[in-house]
Amino acid sequence: MARGTAIAAIDLGSTKIATIVGDTAEGGMLRILGAGVVPSAGIEKGQISSIGQATAAIVASIEKAERASGTRILSAGVSVSGAHLASLNNRGIVAVPDAGRPISADDAQRVIDAARNVSLKSNRELMHALPRFFVVDGQDRVSDPVGMHGQRLDVEMHIVTGGVNALQNVMKCVEGANVQVEALIAAPVATSAAVLDADEQQEGVVSIDIGGGTTDIAVHLDGAIVHTAALPIGGSHVTRDLVAGLRCPFMVAEQAKTRYGAAISTTVPSDETVALTAFGQDERREVHRRLIAEIVEARIEEILSMALVEVQRAGHVGAISAGMVISGGTAELEGLTALAEARTGLPARIGQVPELYGLADQVAGPAYASSLGVLRWMTDALIEPNGQPVRLRMPAGGSVLGLVRGVGRLGRVFLPQ
Ligand SMILES: Nc1ncnc2c1ncn2[C@@H]1O[C@H](COP(=O)(O)OP(=O)(O)OP(=O)(O)O)[C@@H](O)[C@H]1O
Ligand SMILES: [Mg+2]
Repeated sequence: MARGTAIAAIDLGSTKIATIVGDTAEGGMLRILGAGVVPSAGIEKGQISSIGQATAAIVASIEKAERASGTRILSAGVSVSGAHLASLNNRGIVAVPDAGRPISADDAQRVIDAARNVSLKSNRELMHALPRFFVVDGQDRVSDPVGMHGQRLDVEMHIVTGGVNALQNVMKCVEGANVQVEALIAAPVATSAAVLDADEQQEGVVSIDIGGGTTDIAVHLDGAIVHTAALPIGGSHVTRDLVAGLRCPFMVAEQAKTRYGAAISTTVPSDETVALTAFGQDERREVHRRLIAEIVEARIEEILSMALVEVQRAGHVGAISAGMVISGGTAELEGLTALAEARTGLPARIGQVPELYGLADQVAGPAYASSLGVLRWMTDALIEPNGQPVRLRMPAGGSVLGLVRGVGRLGRVFLPQ
């Protein structure tokens, strides 16, 4: 597949469904041809909760993206989030039988196949097997072993799995919208690959995407991903805390959060008030903005500390010198990176996808990091560094789901209308 072929990505979020059509141009930059963003339905905490509602919302998002881009979407790469995602690291080992010959591409493929061949429970599906580094005769951190001499070849692999039922539900909804699923991509993997730069990945960094219902986490060390997780908590929890704390309807609380919220409550003047419509009142009620910020701060602190627990699972917090890159709609919250830095002592920045052109303004802002991550994943997967097309290949052993054409793999999309 040559450069310029359009690709579609569907991001199934808990608050929005975003379908983006794009392609790559010279220099590998992403060109946005059009996007269709609609409010989410039938998706809770990143997982499908109503097939009918989710399918209808996906149809609406796809139709909008088709109109915006002037294309017809036949298939797409689809993001997957939710607490059913899990990750592990596995090592594969093979012998290189011929002492005289260098390690071949076949040997590298054999060891990769060995490392991805983990025994999973029948309700789990392998989504991604991402090589971290090779080891040749005990020499650590070899990035490309082909051509080297050695008798034993190891590979350290990061493996991401998902729950079969959760994945099947996603398939059902997207295919119910008459779009073929070319690839299911774990949202933390896609987001982090799109928002992190190479230096950060090398120095150690955690990508944290705080959406509406989930917080997707991916820890990168030494240039490769070492831990992936999706926590069932996000910006909607902040809003629900405000509903309870301010006794106001969800939509009012949502507005209070986005307009007046702040992550560090002490930055808000203690005497500043805002007028809100509370439950059971015709009149608007004055509320201290400091109170709004205190409620927001407490929940954001909890989310950040849960994210740090995941970093600790990957190793230790001190190892991530490049700190935190925070994306998702909640990253728009005033003072979020300052709070993250103050509580962890690590650097923090907002994660956005760089180098976009075309209709980039349609997908501007950290809320689109995961949607663009899926698009980037799909376009990168289709083009080898030399610009040649990559062939679609099923994961070794095939898919338990059977129906997924390439879990965590490649995808192609559209036809001009
Ligand atoms: N300015 C803002 N301040 C605080 N929160 C905000 C702001 N703008 C958007 N948000 C929050 O961002 C969240 C939506 O983020 P996003 O679009 O990344 O979620 P999603 O992808 O639909 O959901 P998920 O990835 O969790 O399944 C909502 O909770 C919304 O309230
Ligand atoms: Mg999201």
